[in-house]
Amino acid sequence: MAQIISGKEVSAKVRAEVKEECDALKAKGICPGLAVIIVGDDPASRVYVNNKKKACADVGFISEEYALPAETTQEELLALVEELNNKPEINGILCQLPLPKHLDETAVINAISPMKDVDAFHPSNVGKIMIGDYHFLPCTPAGVMEMIHTAGIEVSGKNCVVIGRSNIVGKPMAMLLLHENGTVTICHSKTRDLKEICAAADILVAAVGRPKFVTADMVKEGAVVLDVGINRLDNGKLCGDVDFESVEPKASYITPVPGGVGPMTIAMLMKNTLKAAKLQNNII
Ligand code: GUN
Repeated sequence: MAQIISGKEVSAKVRAEVKEECDALKAKGICPGLAVIIVGDDPASRVYVNNKKKACADVGFISEEYALPAETTQEELLALVEELNNKPEINGILCQLPLPKHLDETAVINAISPMKDVDAFHPSNVGKIMIGDYHFLPCTPAGVMEMIHTAGIEVSGKNCVVIGRSNIVGKPMAMLLLHENGTVTICHSKTRDLKEICAAADILVAAVGRPKFVTADMVKEGAVVLDVGINRLDNGKLCGDVDFESVEPKASYITPVPGGVGPMTIAMLMKNTLKAAKLQNNII
């Protein structure tokens, strides 16, 4: 039977640390501020943005929401980003993705000041992560690493398999495991022998976006299984990319969905926003 790594518990610990540091900053007259941009009315994005605003309030940050209509033009969105880049009380800028189809996500990401890029999506921050000399880590992979560290799991020398190669999760996840001396394989839709590769993993990260994609036959006895997926089933319930019921008895550690990686993403966003506030006030 696996030990469950609770994202609720680990994220509460991270948020408590951020709150303590935020209180100390406030005593110096600095209050971290996060601007969240949402364009259109995607229901999932609305939930994520509400959760991010609530997390800001809980740790003591200022948050500003910019809810723009779906018809917003690229020029209008870029003008808002520029305004926020120049607003001193805003330390972090996050534009909730996906954007409506007519908008150019890459151009928006590139327009956010790298110093305020608390998602760590800007090419300059991505490059810094590749080199291993960075200020911000992308929130979801950083949250997964925090769970690994809190559980006391050693990465060095282990076979690590990441399923999924997105810029937001798969690629940076692989890089963070590599930084800790994991032997890393990235699998994707064109991977041959996926089952065999996954079944050789000591640490398996599922970031596919397909419900219950990882089944017990793809998991080695005693593996650590981290589930980044958040999928909504037809019955309205949330489920991960891992078939928890069949995989849990084989794993040594596993993260649940909900209550696993999801809450960690937001906790790490708070950590990045705090760091941005410190950097912009020359505190680090
Ligand atoms: N959409 C899904 N995940 C994320 C995220 O981590 N950041 C932003 N900005 N949008 C997202």
